[in-house]
Amino acid sequence: MRQTKIDDFLELERRIREEVEKSREKDKILFQQAKLASLGEMLGNISHQWRQPLMEINSIFLPIEGKIILGKKVDNNEIIQAIEKLNSITKFMSDTIDDFRDFFSNNKEKNRFNILEQINSVVNIVSAGLKAHSIRLDIILKKNPELFGYKNEFSQVLINLINNAKDELISRKIKDPYIKITIFEEKNNIVVTIEDNAGGIKVSPIETIFEPFFTYQKHNGSGIGLFMSKLIIEKNMEGKLKASNKDDGAFFEIIIPKN
Ligand SMILES: Nc1ncnc2c1ncn2[C@@H]1O[C@H](COP(=O)(O)OP(=O)(O)O)[C@@H](O)[C@H]1O
Ligand SMILES: [Mg+2]
Repeated sequence: MRQTKIDDFLELERRIREEVEKSREKDKILFQQAKLASLGEMLGNISHQWRQPLMEINSIFLPIEGKIILGKKVDNNEIIQAIEKLNSITKFMSDTIDDFRDFFSNNKEKNRFNILEQINSVVNIVSAGLKAHSIRLDIILKKNPELFGYKNEFSQVLINLINNAKDELISRKIKDPYIKITIFEEKNNIVVTIEDNAGGIKVSPIETIFEPFFTYQKHNGSGIGLFMSKLIIEKNMEGKLKASNKDDGAFFEIIIPKN
């Protein structure tokens, strides 16, 4: 009698362990899918970020070429200036790619990192795409705290939130569209808020948006961005990711305990 009870208990324990292992595997697979989906979103950002500089590169030497064709004299200074311009544009393009590569490197080490630095690399990736749609990006830094965790994942969360806001601002044809990011400290937490004026989240309950594959009224939605963002903030950084609506748009809060 006693022995069977112990056996039952051991069997139960084994099955629980098995199920936990299975669900962990599922999480891993979902996370991989999420990464792939956001790779697609990122590539979209990059192509925007590169279009303008490529056009500039195309035109830098046009005036010089024109002069040569017309048999006019070309000033050395003019050539040097064109080369300098070329250098600064290609540096910008190469910085974008570096930031991009950083996000997808499997750097699995938690580090201390500076929020502002990550925000800068995020801006390097999204700014052209926002500008193309006249979307203003305001960054209000009341504190420049350090965080501990995977810095690339943190940036990925910001990019997901920015891209979502951008999607709504564009599809709803909002006038004077903006995205505002605010960073401050509150008690023992570091708080980053991301808000927009796109009219808010139209699903109820709002929490649904964090479910894997939940996407609403989008042509190419994967429904994975917010799911992944929540995993990153809550599982990997022991923080909280919350969504709500304010009067004219959505309001996302990333709350991370200090140290
Ligand atoms: N800033 C926002 N304003 C309004 N709705 C939003 C906002 N951010 C997210 N949502 C809603 O949450 C859904 C899920 O977002 P996400 O997980 O990133 O998937 P996807 O962007 O692929 O649809 C979106 O389809 C959208 O309906
Ligand atoms: Mg999204």
